[in-house]
Amino acid sequence: MNIYLSIIYNSTIKYIHYKMAKRDYDHLFKLVLVGDSGVGKSCLLLRYADDAFTESFISTIGVDFRFRSAEISGKRIKLQIWDTAGQERFRTITTAYYRGADGIIFVYDITHKESFDHMSSWLAEARRYATPGIPMIIVGNKSDRTDRVVLESDLKKFAQDNDALYIECSARTGDDVKDLFENMAKRLIAIREKDEKPDTGETVDIDRHIPARFACC
Ligand code: GTP
Repeated sequence: MNIYLSIIYNSTIKYIHYKMAKRDYDHLFKLVLVGDSGVGKSCLLLRYADDAFTESFISTIGVDFRFRSAEISGKRIKLQIWDTAGQERFRTITTAYYRGADGIIFVYDITHKESFDHMSSWLAEARRYATPGIPMIIVGNKSDRTDRVVLESDLKKFAQDNDALYIECSARTGDDVKDLFENMAKRLIAIREKDEKPDTGETVDIDRHIPARFACC
């Protein structure tokens, strides 16, 4: 008898925890950061999650992730952000993380042309494994540096051709990093709430609130 009572008690406690955990946020979104090794994916995550930066370069092994909660557009949002390894040898592991992602953030380094040239293959890989039509943002990181080799106009054209949003930012100074994640979240909220509401025939202009520096094609 005591065993049954204990099972009921434990299940009830677990259920209460589950309900409390559910009340923690209105929407949970899974984001994935991809791009060549050294472009600054881990630093962007560190900046957004802890408002910190490190000069040291410790390559990610496989994948890492962090949560960050925020209030965006009047909603409690929880972002689960996966930081994937850019090194080629981890590519088979990282492709698994496209599945189930709500949004993908492609990162290159504005001072490293090759990392921008590789954007096409990162996008092709994502299109192969991720949900069709998934929101994508292309990010030129290290905007604090003066030795850029990729122009913002190149980024704009590439984003237009690939139906993606784009932004330049700096994990070092923090410039536009919050905008990057929060605009992705706004876009995802609009998509999810449109899906949840009965179709009224109205179109949702999801880019309406995007600030000028965060542009879309
Ligand atoms: P992998 O884990 O190998 O895929 O690399 P990653 O893309 O995660 O690169 P990481 O964040 O580790 O950064 C690589 C190097 O770039 C580090 O030395 C950082 O300090 C530097 N870095 C990252 N972001 C910036 C930035 O915005 N500006 C400048 N100047 N340096 C940056």
